[in-house]
Amino acid sequence: MHRYNDSRLAEHSLALITGLQTPGGAYPASPTFSAYAGYCWFRDGAFIADGVSAAGAAESAERFFDWCAGVLRSRADHIRWIVAETRAGRPPEGAKMLPARYTFAGADGLDEWWDFQLDGYGTWLWALAEHLRRHGADGERWRDAVELTVDYLTASWSRPCYDWWEEHSDHVHVSTLACIAAGLDGVAGAGLLDGGREHDAREASAAIHALVRERGTRDGFLVKWFGSTAVDGSLAAALAPLGCFDPGSALGEKTLDALERQLTVSGGTHRYLGDTFYGGGQWPLLSCFLGLAHLAAGNRDRAVELYEWAAATATDDLDLPEQVAGHLIAPGMRQGWLERWGPVATPLLWSHAMLLRLGAELDTTAPLPATPTREGLPR
Ligand code: BGC
Repeated sequence: MHRYNDSRLAEHSLALITGLQTPGGAYPASPTFSAYAGYCWFRDGAFIADGVSAAGAAESAERFFDWCAGVLRSRADHIRWIVAETRAGRPPEGAKMLPARYTFAGADGLDEWWDFQLDGYGTWLWALAEHLRRHGADGERWRDAVELTVDYLTASWSRPCYDWWEEHSDHVHVSTLACIAAGLDGVAGAGLLDGGREHDAREASAAIHALVRERGTRDGFLVKWFGSTAVDGSLAAALAPLGCFDPGSALGEKTLDALERQLTVSGGTHRYLGDTFYGGGQWPLLSCFLGLAHLAAGNRDRAVELYEWAAATATDDLDLPEQVAGHLIAPGMRQGWLERWGPVATPLLWSHAMLLRLGAELDTTAPLPATPTREGLPR
């Protein structure tokens, strides 16, 4: 039977990611793209680790978790200071919080960046917990780094910060909160926390869920940030794979409906209305997130369409880009970005990982072939 992760594109994706991973475990966001070269993001990296873990490359995912743990351990004193100051009612300014991306060696970047983003710290916890569950692995070697992260997040989760797209730092973003809640729940359930921390993690997650329902929805669907009326393509992740909100619930259905109506043209998904980055094109990785959410809600046909759309964005060399220009929100803005940063990031490892992740889910949930009956007709 046809298996998505046996395709040439899936094989290329896995080989590309594992081939570009550094010996220390970092995943380059995009090896050649001017603004990303030399950096590994917690957000991209965690989803990449989850993708390759689901596709069977457990050792690669674990090497990434080792890299995360190294980054956190080397900042343990600084993290403890952030937590103590925050608990004392003096939250440090955004510039003193942990950055979104690091050099492969785990050092802070030298270039200016939109650094204060909390989502990746939740996402690495979530990806680790998923990996341990999926492979029946033991998480002891990451315990201290998990504890540092849990303390950082339980102290800081309610703060406004930059979102997945490194924008709008004055808002509290629903996708960011979903990553944090999923991470805290994940490691609490994985038995990686002592009693006090497990209590704090579960309490913070419950508070996040309640607050999102109160301030992060409108007309029954999840919105981009507290008080917004708009959606964001990243919200599909809150349904699946993060599983923060039930994809089959009324909230899940309405969120999927809003994402389809507002952001998806054929199978291609925009980040948000008003996006101008490279003209505001369609992101294959977002179509894969949307596919995962549809699949979890029981709509396999739509998930397959979204997979096929994302796969069709591959270049002749089978590389997947960050975005494609077939349908642009702000066509006039594209040229300026091409001149500033060069061609769109290609390959983007996160795109490849999301294709693998959706492929793995389609493969493991494939309907069984019809059993022939005695008369020779399928039942
Ligand atoms: C995106 C981020 C991403 C980064 C590296 C940025 O343009 O907005 O979500 O983490 O690229 O891929």
